[in-house]
Amino acid sequence: MDTKLYTIILAAGEGKRMKSDIPKVFHPIGGLPMIEYVLRRAIDLHSDKIIVVVGIGKDIIMGYISKRYEDAIFAHQIKQLGTADAVKTAIDELTDLDGDVLILNGDVPLLSHALMEDFYGQYKKSKASLGFVTATLENPSGYGRVVKKAGKFTILEERDADEKIKKIKEINAGIYLVSCKLLDKAIKRVKPSVVTDEYYLTDIVGLIQSMKKKVVNYHTDNAEQVIGINDRRSLAYAEKILNQKKVNRLMANGVTIYDPDNTYIEHDVAIGKDSIVYPNSFIMNGTKIGSRCIIWNGTVIKDSKINDGVEIKPYSIIEQSIVGRDAVIGPFARIRPETVVDDNVHVGNFVEIKKSSLGKGTKVNHLSYIGDATIGSRVNIGAGTITCNYDGFKKNPTVIEDEAFIGSNTALVAPVRIGRGAIVGAASAITKDVPHDALGIERSEQRNIEGYAMKRRSKLGSK
Ligand code: UD1
Ligand code: CA
Repeated sequence: MDTKLYTIILAAGEGKRMKSDIPKVFHPIGGLPMIEYVLRRAIDLHSDKIIVVVGIGKDIIMGYISKRYEDAIFAHQIKQLGTADAVKTAIDELTDLDGDVLILNGDVPLLSHALMEDFYGQYKKSKASLGFVTATLENPSGYGRVVKKAGKFTILEERDADEKIKKIKEINAGIYLVSCKLLDKAIKRVKPSVVTDEYYLTDIVGLIQSMKKKVVNYHTDNAEQVIGINDRRSLAYAEKILNQKKVNRLMANGVTIYDPDNTYIEHDVAIGKDSIVYPNSFIMNGTKIGSRCIIWNGTVIKDSKINDGVEIKPYSIIEQSIVGRDAVIGPFARIRPETVVDDNVHVGNFVEIKKSSLGKGTKVNHLSYIGDATIGSRVNIGAGTITCNYDGFKKNPTVIEDEAFIGSNTALVAPVRIGRGAIVGAASAITKDVPHDALGIERSEQRNIEGYAMKRRSKLGSK
């Protein structure tokens, strides 16, 4: 029978160096809280139990995790006395002491499944009681250094290290696999650091060796994957790496990214092949873009579905909406939440649409506001049309049926319905329904005064 694998994720710290009101592991990277990536690694390894140690900001972290991973268990660390103390709070959850424990820092979001799988495999093969991941960094400052002497490891924290130790470039990544039994024994013996008074988890390395048990390190050449996020600079650095990986994956799958260094695509976005993405566009999580789409520069798309063949022209914003096949949006269009734009629709410049549906082939090409409206197919909405959806108290609906034609500069005072094939005369303020195939017009009669302009010119111009 396979031995059990428990995972403990350390997420109780405040992250002082972030200078933030948000707990560190909750800061987003690639559009997701850091801890999400660490959780995914634990799940990919088929952990039998995932225990998250929470403390500072626990409500926000627990709220997020329990919504997504019902099976996760929380251990509360009341005072942040160090990483060993954090592990101690979770120790009672390790019910089967024949198992192994994977311990992960919650601030190491770039780990790949491949690395974790390899580490786990090597650890099992080595029959060691403890394995820990190390990497060699050009600039190791801030990390615990790995000292190897006569085949024995010691991890020394930078805060406690002298100049000689600080020169060591091999660092502890904060990722451990350890037998439950030995962790249980060793964790109780960790003494606080004489320098900082903190209980260091890294001390279990020495303790387990002193019990004459085998300890191995797993050195990875993928140093990028094990960076720990401690401050805003490392957050920005990790963001850059993650974004690079994302655009590289998309390019490998047949998406053209015009300028990969200046295109921002969050971690869970999907884009179909032969689509093109131009620079300075921001495509955020929850978004799925089809094939053959063109996403021009300066576009922001969040939580939306863009179907095949759509062109989003520059500087458009689309949020929580659906755009049908071959539609054209923008430039400078704003599609607000709960909008559904059907196939072949054109939404042009300076058009705002909110919580509305537009049927196939409908056009709203210039300077309009469409809110709380249900619009049929092949409707033409003239420039400057406004749905007056708000009466100061509530939002009211507008319905425009198929093939209606709305003249420019029309105000549609909701609730109102424009029937199938009806025409609304330009500049009308429509307050009553217009029956199908009728003309609805509301404007005063035009008056022409013959020769007026000429008279005025001669009067004013002669002075
Ligand atoms: C830790 C390691 C260091 C390693 C580095 C890798 C220790 C003592 N040091 O240092 O050797 O090189 O990670 O990134 O373990 N936490 C708690 N409770 C606490 C303290 C911390 O849950 O009382 C959590 C934090 O939320 C964080 C993780 O443990 O997710 C690591 O803590 P952090 O303070 O970032 O440790 P480092 O100084 O980076
Ligand atoms: Ca850290």
